[in-house]
Amino acid sequence: MNLQIFDSPDQLHEAGAGIIGGLLQTKPSAVLGLATGGTPVGIYEELVKAHKRGLVRFKEATTFNLDEYVGLPGTHPQSYRYYMNEHLFSQVDLAPERTHIPDGMSPDPQEECRRYDALLQRAGQIDLQLLGIGHNGHIGFNEPDHALISGTHVVALREETRLANARFFDRLEAVPTHALTMGVATILKARTIVLVVKGEDKADIVHRALTGPITTDCPASLLQTHPNLTVLMDAEAGRRFR
Ligand code: F6R
Repeated sequence: MNLQIFDSPDQLHEAGAGIIGGLLQTKPSAVLGLATGGTPVGIYEELVKAHKRGLVRFKEATTFNLDEYVGLPGTHPQSYRYYMNEHLFSQVDLAPERTHIPDGMSPDPQEECRRYDALLQRAGQIDLQLLGIGHNGHIGFNEPDHALISGTHVVALREETRLANARFFDRLEAVPTHALTMGVATILKARTIVLVVKGEDKADIVHRALTGPITTDCPASLLQTHPNLTVLMDAEAGRRFR
């Protein structure tokens, strides 16, 4: 495991963008696994800057996002499709058909999960999976449970996750109750994983995930088994590793 702790958010964002940009320079056709949420916004900003300076191209890349809310169309400002369009896709040379996010409006969510897994399988291995971590240790929307699911599935969001994400919505009731998420096996199959963690409020969970027992009670603890894990943390999140 490669742990890096940065004094400033800018350094962390540049480092994250540098890893993704570096991969695209050496492998333009890379398959990227992408995350949403507050954590990666700065990394996407740096990637857009690098693209505008002519340093990074996405033309041949393919992307798969981790998750999407059930019931939100891509035009909804809090959908993950909208987020990705805003923060990355519309600002770089990535053809829309090369970007994949589960369809939260599918009339048959189970079938949508099968479709997503088939697309993932056809794309081959994800070269780099970008991840954040939830306060309860979730990765993607794989919430703590007595058992975890390997492939893409429908998940009932835990109350703490809805509360944490309510900051992006007008009110808690507007936060969807369910999501579609890639499963843990798909995440762990990625060639490289980059976990990004920011903020004092994540210091305990990231420490537990990376140094505590490997347990489905903390899905991020499974990352300890990955042979090529890089963790980028700001000073606040990384305080227990110093
Ligand atoms: C987002 C995702 C989630 C977030 C996690 C942290 O696509 O899969 O696991 O990474 O909830 O969210 P933030 O970054 O908002 O703290």
